[in-house]
Amino acid sequence: MDGTASHPAIDPQRYFESVETESERPEHGPVCLYLETTNRCNLLCTTCPRTYEELEPPADMSWALFTSIVDQIPRLARAVLHGVGEPMLVKNLPRMVRYLKDRGSYVLFNTNGTVLNEKNGRALIAAGLDELRVSFDAANAESYKAIRGKNFFNRILKNVRAFRELQEREGHDKPRVSA
Ligand SMILES: C[S@@+](CC[C@H](N)C(=O)[O-])C[C@H]1O[C@@H](n2cnc3c(N)ncnc32)[C@H](O)[C@@H]1O
Ligand code: SF4
Repeated sequence: MDGTASHPAIDPQRYFESVETESERPEHGPVCLYLETTNRCNLLCTTCPRTYEELEPPADMSWALFTSIVDQIPRLARAVLHGVGEPMLVKNLPRMVRYLKDRGSYVLFNTNGTVLNEKNGRALIAAGLDELRVSFDAANAESYKAIRGKNFFNRILKNVRAFRELQEREGHDKPRVSA
């Protein structure tokens, strides 16, 4: 099941057009959800608010909270699974993706790509993730280090290339990968 099959009237890329209304009051529930699946991170980017201030104790979203939110939104066309934190540190992430895919949502998240490997990459493919957005915020190793604080530019490039090669080799057209 995918987003267009379950919610044929809503284009997940242009979900906002489906909520246009003449009225000042909403006529139906939300169609897009941003879930901060964790506020933990393994980087300290100079641009990121969490580098400078801890607003809440570090934690991952529990399965019970996740399902209780998603279950309230039957018309959910699009779900974004990052907030300020690194979603690929969340153990339940592939399970969350699968849960959303089974309800017909288009699912994506941004990641810093540091822990992308064959095992968790395969789990995300199997879960049906639609889009994986890898944040570099830099064009080379030097600017990466200056902005993201660690000398990880080549490591992340390697992770992304290996993931794309796996997809090509095995014919997986999802998730769409961008950087
Ligand atoms: C906060 S991060 C969370 C996901 C993941 N940790 C990552 O870096 O992609 C989400 C996106 O916000 C971007 N970002 C970082 N600092 C930002 C800022 N001050 N304003 C807007 N976006 C920012 C990151 O580059 C990333 O693409
Ligand atoms: S990797 Fe993402 S969440 Fe972590 S510090 Fe950088 S921008 Fe913030």
